[in-house]
Amino acid sequence: VFENPLRPAILAAARSTTLKAAITRAPVTRSIVKRFIAGETRAAALTAARAILDTGRLISIDHLGEDTTDEAQAGAAVAEYLALLSDLAALPEAREPGGVRPLEVSVKLSALGQALPVDGREIALANARTLCAAAERSGVWITVDAEDHTTTDSTLSIVRELRADYPWLGAVLQSYLRRAETDCRALAGPDSRIRLCKGAYREPDLVAFQAKADVDASYLRCLRVLMEGGGYPMVASHDPAIIAETDSMASGTGRDAADFEHQMLYGIRDGEQLRLAGLGAQMRVYLPYGGQWYGYFMRRLAERPANLGFFVRSVFTR
Ligand code: FDA
Repeated sequence: VFENPLRPAILAAARSTTLKAAITRAPVTRSIVKRFIAGETRAAALTAARAILDTGRLISIDHLGEDTTDEAQAGAAVAEYLALLSDLAALPEAREPGGVRPLEVSVKLSALGQALPVDGREIALANARTLCAAAERSGVWITVDAEDHTTTDSTLSIVRELRADYPWLGAVLQSYLRRAETDCRALAGPDSRIRLCKGAYREPDLVAFQAKADVDASYLRCLRVLMEGGGYPMVASHDPAIIAETDSMASGTGRDAADFEHQMLYGIRDGEQLRLAGLGAQMRVYLPYGGQWYGYFMRRLAERPANLGFFVRSVFTR
């Protein structure tokens, strides 16, 4: 990830409205985007989810949307998630509380209004509470995604508050943040569900490790804390070195396959996902859908020069 010299430029482009317009309008973009995004509609997401569930994998569906600038937009995001939860409740994989739920949705608090200038935190908290109540009725889990570091304290405090009523609510920690190991220690208690990832945003040196080796070492320290803790670790990485360590740490800490899960993004290392599921591991696929795919798509390009090369080649060789 962090050895890609173009990463800062691509992540800066992810925030550019001019480039966003140009890239989203380019007809070729859509076919590339399909590799990482289930489609623009809920129906497309549910079709893709069905196919994944049928291969023995679990899912976490994300409705793409960030940068919510008014309360109406936040309300529209809530409405979409409520419709999604009600569709998921009808699937045979919906579960009563207790035990692993095969169905999950992932939510960004920024989509629910967290960044609104007046009462943003309270609006996002109230909206997230509405979604938690619906998820509980639907037999579906929710995990709150991690965004850039300026949101970490607010996001974790919202999750902490909601967990009093919805103890199954999951949070994400990013190992590139210097604070990650401390956060893992604070959150590794009984019943907690923590998704550990490396982190996908452009962050300053003051708060985040910059070298891949440091991010990876932090990941393994965090993973050990989670594995030795009383919660349910969710190991979100495509990295073969991390995946190999996960298995040895799990057996070293007396966990069996039901006590943690692997997670990967839709369209990335599908063969490896199937291999792990075939070995009896719990393998959850993060499945994004929706019209606002630009930020998500650019973060995937920034991660991997090969993804970028694929994209650029497709643009120039019609
Ligand atoms: P990294 O990108 O370091 O790659 C390491 C190795 O993995 C590569 O050398 C290669 O071997 C393999 N690999 C990676 N990508 C591959 C590809 N496309 N094809 C083949 N091999 C590949 N971030 C965030 O900030 N907030 C969040 O809430 C989330 N949520 C989230 C959920 C889930 C389920 C996942 C999997 C990831 C996230 N992320 C995230 C993104 C995460 O922070 C990170 O940017 C990516 O997962 C990439 O990091 P990796 O750990 O996969 O390894």
